[in-house]
Parts: sequence; structure tokens; C-alpha cells
Amino acid sequence: MFAPDKLLLAVESSCDETAVALLTADGEVVADLVHSQIAAHAPFGGVVPEIASRHHLQRIAALADELFEKAGRTPTDVGAVAATYGPGLIGALLVGLQFAKGFAQARGVPFVGVHHLEGHLLAGAGAAGFVEPPFIALIASGGHSAVYRYRGLDDAVVLGETRDDAAGEAFDKAAKLLGLGYPGGKVIDELAEEGDPTAYKLPISLRSKQTYDMSFSGLKTAVRVLVQKLEKDGPVEGQRLKDLAASLRRVVVDALLAKAFLACHREKIPALVLGGGVVANSLLRAEAIARGKKHGIRVFVPPRALCTDNAVMIGQAGLARLRAGHTSTLVLRAEAGAALADAGDAIAARAS
Ligand code: KG4
Ligand code: ZN
Repeated sequence: MFAPDKLLLAVESSCDETAVALLTADGEVVADLVHSQIAAHAPFGGVVPEIASRHHLQRIAALADELFEKAGRTPTDVGAVAATYGPGLIGALLVGLQFAKGFAQARGVPFVGVHHLEGHLLAGAGAAGFVEPPFIALIASGGHSAVYRYRGLDDAVVLGETRDDAAGEAFDKAAKLLGLGYPGGKVIDELAEEGDPTAYKLPISLRSKQTYDMSFSGLKTAVRVLVQKLEKDGPVEGQRLKDLAASLRRVVVDALLAKAFLACHREKIPALVLGGGVVANSLLRAEAIARGKKHGIRVFVPPRALCTDNAVMIGQAGLARLRAGHTSTLVLRAEAGAALADAGDAIAARAS
């Protein structure tokens, strides 16, 4: 680890958020900043990798300066550095990873790579009510939807995952179709609050109890067909739009929670941790807690700001690694398709 008066600098740049944070060795957040690139990508209806890399490059150093200023600390207070090495957009990952390595080398402090999903899993480690492993984890974001059995570092097993689109992608694609802009999860969530979730029947694939896998691409087609039908009576707006948003939100939330609770029951692990951008969803948050109470399962839902990409989560996972004595050398490579099961080997890789 590092001296108790020193801080961990954490860096995240895997997609369209440039994020930095300073944490104490105990996991207390001293300061954190997230620079979202949403405005730069919105005109294209999705994340444009080249634009993402360029924005990370333009922002990262200034954001780190701002972070130290906000914390009233200086780079000499940093005792270790953690950064996401994957998965994500390769050009985007490279920017944060190389910045972090350069920082660690310049200061002569340890460096540790972090798997982005380990970050989502451990995002709430410093928050009140965090559930200690073993737990079942449901990760739902724009790029991932999966259920894990998590018993600790290097003991994360994927029980099931989406076979096509991620849950966030389902929201984003539906929003695009409805002309609601990008990303769509938040807008649909807000519209859904005033809608009737039973108004429209939307299908959800792989509902069977035989698999933990999920599928959301059929939903996108179903929404398109429904919208075409509704448009015969004029544009889908007002109450009809709210009802559609509520109906969509309900099936996505049901699909995710059905698999998560199935895993808790089948694996006999009465603890569930949620993570990822889609966990900012109001219904998912409320339903997870309600079902947990009903079934006697402890459910941890991180604060909203820790659900969408941020550097605090990379800091918490980095601290867990450092506490276990894990560090990376500066040869650690960015890996667009990094698997969680290989995280331990990846971050410990030595130059050959
Ligand atoms: O974790 P995240 O920030 O980035 C990835 O690693 O993908 O997740 C972004 C995703 C987007 O698809 C966005 O639409 C979704 O999270 N999202 C939401 C909400 N806020 C963000 N989905 C549903 N309801 C929300 N309130
Ligand atoms: Zn993420």
C-alpha cells in the first residue's frame, strides 16, 4: 500500500467520460471530477471513437490540475496511481492509461491497472451499506449486461450475459428511434415516470429459468414495429410517448432483475450488488430494493453518480488490488476486449 497521509490518483477514460479522482488509503473520496463528452457525440447519435480519444487527450491534464486544486492537494501527495486498462475503446483507454503511467513514473509511485467492470462492481466499496463479497453482481451499462458471482478479487465468474445488445443500448436505440437524442436511458427514465407501464406489451427474450443469459435486440425491433403502428395515428408524443417509455422501462428492468434474483436463489448467495450506467434508472433502483426485501436478499444500489462511468470506482477497485499486494508494471497494455476473469493476470503481467 502507500503511506496513510498519501492519496490514490484514479483515472478512467474507457469511453466518453474523462474522469479523475483522489481517494485516501481507506477509500474515502477526497475529490472527483467527471468530464462528460456527451455534447460532442450527441450529433452523431452515439460515441465516435476518434472524437472520444481526441477529447480525452485535450482534457485529461487540465482535469487532473483541476482535481488537485479542488482537493487543495498537489501531485506530491500522490502515493499510488490506478487507471482503467480495459475493456473499452482502444484509443480512449490509451489516453488515460498512458497519462496514469507517466504520472506514476514521474512521481516514482506504484501503479495498478484496473478492469473497468471490476470498477463497476466495487464502485460503492466506500459507501454506506456496501455488501461485502460473496455477492451476485448485476452489471448493466451501455456496453455490458451481465450477472456475475463475485467471491473476491480474481474470483468473479460470469454466470450469464447478453447475447446481443446491452440494456443501455436498448434504451439508447429506442431513444434514437423516438428522436429523443443520445444517450437515451435518462430521458426514457424521466418520461416513464409519468407513463403507464402496462399500456403497451413489449416482448423480452430468454425469460426462461434455464439460462442467466439475456437478449435485448428483439426489443429494439419490437419498439420499431410498435412505433410504426402508433404513427398511423400521428406522431408518438405526449402521453403515448410516456406510456411507451414506461412500458419499455418495465420490461428491461424486469428482464435484468429476473436474472439477478434467479442467480441469488440458485447460487444460494443472499446478496446482490448493482453497477453500471443503467443502475441510475429510478425503477431499477426501487424494484431491486423492493424485491430484495421481499426475498430476504441484501441489495446494494450505489449512489447514482457512481453508476455511470467515473474514476471513484476505478479508485475503489485499485485500492482493493493494492491492498492485496497487486501492482502493474509500466508495460501493462490497454486491452479493448479485456475479460474480467483475466484481470489478475493482465495487471500482474511483466515485461518478457
Ligand atoms: O456505465 P456507463 O456510463 O457507460 C458504459 O460503460 O457503457 O453507462 C451508460 C449507459 C447508457 O446506455 C445510458 O443510456 C444508460 O447508461 N443510462 C440509463 C440511465 N442513465 C444512464 N439507463 C436507464 N436509466 C437511466 N436513468
Ligand atoms: Zn462503464
